[in-house]
Amino acid sequence: MYNSIIKGLGKYVPERIVTNHELTEYMDTSDEWIRERTGIEQRHWVQEGDGNTTASMGYKAAKQAIERAGLTPEDIDFIVFATLSPDYFFPGSGVLLQDMLGVPDIGALDVRNQCSGFIYALNVADKFIKTGTYKNILVVGSEVHSEGLDLSTRGRAVSVIFGDGAGAVVLSRTDDRNKGILAGNLHSQGKYALELAVKDPGSRMPVKKVVERVNTEKDYIDYYPYMNGNFVFKNAVVRFEEAIMEALNDAGLSKEDLDMFIPHQANLRISQFIQKRMGLRDDQVWNNIQKYGNTTAASIPIALTEAWESGAIKEGDLVVLAAFGSGFTWGASLIRW
Ligand code: UT7
Repeated sequence: MYNSIIKGLGKYVPERIVTNHELTEYMDTSDEWIRERTGIEQRHWVQEGDGNTTASMGYKAAKQAIERAGLTPEDIDFIVFATLSPDYFFPGSGVLLQDMLGVPDIGALDVRNQCSGFIYALNVADKFIKTGTYKNILVVGSEVHSEGLDLSTRGRAVSVIFGDGAGAVVLSRTDDRNKGILAGNLHSQGKYALELAVKDPGSRMPVKKVVERVNTEKDYIDYYPYMNGNFVFKNAVVRFEEAIMEALNDAGLSKEDLDMFIPHQANLRISQFIQKRMGLRDDQVWNNIQKYGNTTAASIPIALTEAWESGAIKEGDLVVLAAFGSGFTWGASLIRW
């Protein structure tokens, strides 16, 4: 068995910055409400003509990650692409990235686990590396949320939260058993599937019926995201901690051993709550939701890349990544850097 290390990291966010103040032009909200409840000050959204799609932003982040790994696209053996906002209903965005990279016919797997998407993708990639199947895997999280949000007051509880962006890592084989991904876990609880969801269109409500409803009903159509915010919040704070503790236990380590916690950026209040519960200092938790909002599958790789770029993660550090979101799904990855 081998181990897998993160060899290169990259990120990309669209140029357009949307402040809380700008959102007040579209809906009944306020900078004060958004900051107080979520910590968010601004987010990046794609704009008409900038050429950004989920796959193309993933490509920009991936290119940087590959270069920083000292590799070329030809060295990549497999792609795992996490997104809830793919370019097309099908095929997935992973195959589009394969084409953009101009590499031979490597496999490309799309992961649809929403806010936990990157943790799921990383855990899957880790297994392919550990079993010796592949040497270098591109793990990408990318989202274009802004095109799918209800920007009227009706959608404000969700729409003020989400941002667009992409992050990527190159996961590579190592013989060093003390380095890299030490433990990981994945969980789900489908009974809460509709507590945070975009329902339509789907096989239960096909496009032709959605079109009929749009033409006949003025009512709220379920093709905008719905979130039972309070309920999601309460579950999130419990599951984040559980997943982190499970990973630490599996590796025979304790929370005192942690150097850095990179949470999925769901809400600054969630991160602060967990930080307190875990007894971590401010410099041991990486928060950037203030600048980017919640970028779902992209939030962890963007935060991880930023933390690494700033020098906050050093060789030998024990880093834990954890996420919770729609599904419900949750999980963690524990990494010796
Ligand atoms: O990433 C995936 C996982 N996601 C999460 O973990 C998110 C978890 N949930 C949350 O972060 C929070 O629940 C939210 C930030 C989504 C909402 O915060 P909250 O403190 O739970 O607010 P609320 O939904 O209970 O709404 C409180 C009030 C309501 O008004 P009334 O009924 O008290 O009169 C809402 O209508 O705030 C109102 N409201 C807003 N007001 C101004 C909701 N959205 C907005 C808004 N601006 N954007």
